[in-house]
Amino acid sequence: MENKLDKVKRILAQYKQLHLLDFVGALTIEEIENLLNQFESIDFEKMRSLYQGSVSNGKEKLSNHRDISPIHCDVLNNYNELKQKKFLEIGESVLGMGKIAVVTMAGGQGTRLGHKGPKGTFNIGYPINKTLFQLQNERLKSLSEKYKRWIPWYIMTSGEAHEDTIKYFECNNYFGYEKREVFFFQQGALPMLSFDGKILLKEKNEIYFGPDGNGSVFHSLKRSGALEDMTNKGIEWVFFTGIDNALVKMADPIFVGYAINSDVNAASKSVPKKHPEERAGVFCLKESKPSIVEYSEIPEELIRMSNANGQLLFGDVNILVHLFRISELHKIAEEGLPYHTVVKNAACIDRNGKKVEVSSYKYESFIFDAFKVLDRVAILQVVREMEFAPIKNKVGEDSPETAVRQLIQLERI
Ligand code: UD1
Repeated sequence: MENKLDKVKRILAQYKQLHLLDFVGALTIEEIENLLNQFESIDFEKMRSLYQGSVSNGKEKLSNHRDISPIHCDVLNNYNELKQKKFLEIGESVLGMGKIAVVTMAGGQGTRLGHKGPKGTFNIGYPINKTLFQLQNERLKSLSEKYKRWIPWYIMTSGEAHEDTIKYFECNNYFGYEKREVFFFQQGALPMLSFDGKILLKEKNEIYFGPDGNGSVFHSLKRSGALEDMTNKGIEWVFFTGIDNALVKMADPIFVGYAINSDVNAASKSVPKKHPEERAGVFCLKESKPSIVEYSEIPEELIRMSNANGQLLFGDVNILVHLFRISELHKIAEEGLPYHTVVKNAACIDRNGKKVEVSSYKYESFIFDAFKVLDRVAILQVVREMEFAPIKNKVGEDSPETAVRQLIQLERI
């Protein structure tokens, strides 16, 4: 009978990935076993087709361009006081009935920030001195106190960060949050590829996997049992956010009320774009449906396009705050989302066994692609200074320093 190593060799030869066994001669039996086990989770056929997609990506971008047009966004401040009060009342009543859950997508790698460990454990610095997890936790805690019930909080992690995140919450006693209402779940991962389609090695006995994008959240919620848990709790709406916006209004009641009042299946928040080159996704209509085109994919000629008043035609930035009806989440998890090619640097092992930094292909699905599956989606433009302070870079724009400054301005210390 064919042994495990021979079987792996046969498959790797078929997909031209035999280099992954280059260092087997220098490994211990346990290390070989460990490496062979990692192949079990790889769908080689899928990786081949993703790679072929990356190679023809340029052509795709051009043909998509014709389908993209500007979209209408509702502006919160254009609603009068009475209407805003109505949104608040609707949202508060739904929160009070315990029908809202929150999902924090914290599975990204935070490479630009250079922080070791889960990004949520990053302390934004003096004089706030709180981590990103702490900021979200405090806001959810105060809402829970106000509405006299704990808001179920689901935190998505990836790879090694999973255990570290749980440990972090345990060591800090969940910062006073009800432990039973915090649910950690892991997202998927895919191998990273070199530009010539070879799967990368992180170590001699370790395949280089990367988290497969925040769109993984739907399938991962379902696979982990979190979606079922929400359904059992009677949740009707799920609020999604990332981990790096220091100003995020968690489970914002006005936003919830706006979505319900608009009778939609999903809603999203935007802020006006700071400048044409801001590295953020922008809202648009794609094939006549509400959509977001990511900064890495937007055709050059659309970036600066403006109307007669000089306003950018694609000037509403995605701040990664989305709300979905729970019934839609099942549908999206079933349908699955497409993958996008992202170019990332990877410190991997070369053919000589040396650690080298190379540009590589990483495959990610994007949460906002879920809009394509849905019928009715509304977008609410809010005030940037009050709701968006992303921490992406160590210094300069969108850094801890700019976020702390914004927080101080809002007197939220
Ligand atoms: C993201 C948005 C972009 C938006 C910007 C605002 C997506 C795909 N892109 O871009 O449109 O304008 O934020 O700040 O939503 N994450 C995971 N798992 C992953 C990858 C990411 O959980 O596999 C989480 C990250 O932890 C983070 C969030 O998703 O909280 C955003 O990821 P990041 O890679 O930082 O996205 P941006 O490129 O900043």
